[in-house]
Amino acid sequence: MSFETNGSATHDRTRVFVTGSCEGSATLCQALAHQPDLELVGVAEHVHEATGALAGGHLQVVLHATSDATLPSDELAVIREHTRAPIIVLASGEASQLMEQALEEDVADVLLLPQMPENVFFAIRKASHSGRRSLGATVPSASHGRIVTVFSPKGGTGKTVITTNLATALAKHEGKRTLLLDLDLQFGDAAIMLGLEPEKTIYDLVVAPGELDSEKLAGYVTRHTSGLEILPAPLRPEDAELVTEAKIGALLEVARQSYDVIMVDTSPFFHGPMLATLDQTDELLLVCSLDVPTIKNVRLSLQTLELLSFPMRKVRLVLNRSNSKVGMKEGEVETALERKVRFQIPSDRAVPLAVNRGNPVVLADAGSDFAKALRDVAKAVANPEPERQARRRRFFAKA
Ligand SMILES: Nc1ncnc2c1ncn2[C@@H]1O[C@H](COP(=O)(O)OP(=O)(O)OP(=O)(O)O)[C@@H](O)[C@H]1O
Ligand SMILES: [Mg+2]
Repeated sequence: MSFETNGSATHDRTRVFVTGSCEGSATLCQALAHQPDLELVGVAEHVHEATGALAGGHLQVVLHATSDATLPSDELAVIREHTRAPIIVLASGEASQLMEQALEEDVADVLLLPQMPENVFFAIRKASHSGRRSLGATVPSASHGRIVTVFSPKGGTGKTVITTNLATALAKHEGKRTLLLDLDLQFGDAAIMLGLEPEKTIYDLVVAPGELDSEKLAGYVTRHTSGLEILPAPLRPEDAELVTEAKIGALLEVARQSYDVIMVDTSPFFHGPMLATLDQTDELLLVCSLDVPTIKNVRLSLQTLELLSFPMRKVRLVLNRSNSKVGMKEGEVETALERKVRFQIPSDRAVPLAVNRGNPVVLADAGSDFAKALRDVAKAVANPEPERQARRRRFFAKA
């Protein structure tokens, strides 16, 4: 169901989305679509059809219509998963129980239809104002999602296993709105490790006409059961060429507005899109292993990063398969690289088992050593140390 909205300028208009239906809701939507102070972003009878718009639509109010006599808690929970905009419940018929329940829930208002459209407009504006105030208090800046890039100059060191598990843990266990961006543009396999077969990839997004904004981005991501969203690598290696440095720069800026954390998986090269990513990276997880050629290349990468003026304080050394008995100890890696290992991740049989099943280890085998280590990394990424504290830690680690 869709309605033509009026054509006036969109700024300063309250952005509203309507989900569900009840007696009188269709008439009300017609009235909303022609109200100059409101922008009716869309209407969806079933909440599940609207998740993209709810997440990326910069909504100020969501109206949810129900003909049930009780509060539709499951549907409200789905809306809450995707947006923090205030929710007004529209009901028809006997609703005294629903109203009672609404007092206990995170609902801005309940309106019984039919209503004079002016009453509904007023309730929307009131909810939008209070929503803005409370969002301002709890979310200091909506546009400051952190970009965490996972890199290693050697193939097969565990970048994708670490990125997919970390991103899943951030979404599922740390409650962060998380996007996984697969920048291994030619041979990315993050989606497959998550057991997903996405219809759209980063290629479709960058070749689509029109300006990129959060709403458009939301239409191209694929959602995993953990809540994590992913923008996968192109399906064909030759399509990677069109994913340019400029496109990645713009994409990351937009993604910061919709997500708390953007996890970037990479290939072992410093190509254009990687340089654009480094420009915006807040934390670089540099993956190393107990293996002489990898250590040599990680050392070269650190030198390249310095030449690129990438701030070394943003680099975290991750030692994957840290417990492998290969005649080398963590201390030797630290000496060779002249920096401390920040995270150790053990070698674990649970990893290949989970990879082959397309299910991240943090979900498939939450008690495994690998999952526990990844949960710790997720906690640290979700709660970054204040800069002063991090400086102290680095100073004493060197001493
Ligand atoms: N800690 C670990 N324990 C056991 N197996 C692991 C571990 N880390 C990685 N692996 C295995 O190593 C394989 C390669 O890992 P992964 O694909 O994540 O590497 P990569 O760095 O992304 O490689 P590429 O550069 O080819 O993309 C995986 O299939 C996984 O099974
Ligand atoms: Mg990989």
